[in-house]
Amino acid sequence: MERTFIALKPDAVQRGLAGDIISRFERKGFKLVGMKLMQVSKSLAEEHYGEHKGKPFFGGLVDFITSAPIVAMVWEGDNVVTTGRKMMGATNPKDSEPGTIRGDFAVDMGRNIIHGSDSVASAQREIGLFFNDTELLPSWCRSTESWIYENPEPVKTACSV
Ligand code: RTP
Ligand code: MG
Repeated sequence: MERTFIALKPDAVQRGLAGDIISRFERKGFKLVGMKLMQVSKSLAEEHYGEHKGKPFFGGLVDFITSAPIVAMVWEGDNVVTTGRKMMGATNPKDSEPGTIRGDFAVDMGRNIIHGSDSVASAQREIGLFFNDTELLPSWCRSTESWIYENPEPVKTACSV
């Protein structure tokens, strides 16, 4: 099953929006397989945002993402990378539609609340940067699976209750 890396940026945590944003992914039907509150180091931030190195906003972006704790998460689901990006809304909140996370909660490009992987390849790279294998639970039993998917993928862990 496809996975994506989602991070609630320092502004989301500081403003008390983490629960609301996590709830949106839960209610959608995506499955949480890893989550931690963490302070991002400068080296991790620079590696994560490596594609933007040399751009004028790079320094400010690294300073911001390392300024206070983030919530790092891995979500799993059919088409979760693309759908997650749609749920986030456009990068610049001026262009984000109401109903999206950035459209509802952000006004400034440099305080846009949430990060989401932009491709399956980026997701694999970013998940590897932020999580080790023991921190992910991709096969935990969710008893609602058949109410979300017409043909759910079998998981290795059976529901015991
Ligand atoms: P993110 O990586 O944070 O999920 O955001 P994104 O894919 O929607 O946008 P991306 O192009 O990867 O940019 C990363 C973050 O850098 C800031 N940014 N500022 N001033 C600018 O022109 C500019 N462009 C990008 C934004 O905070 C964006 O989220
Ligand atoms: Mg990006």
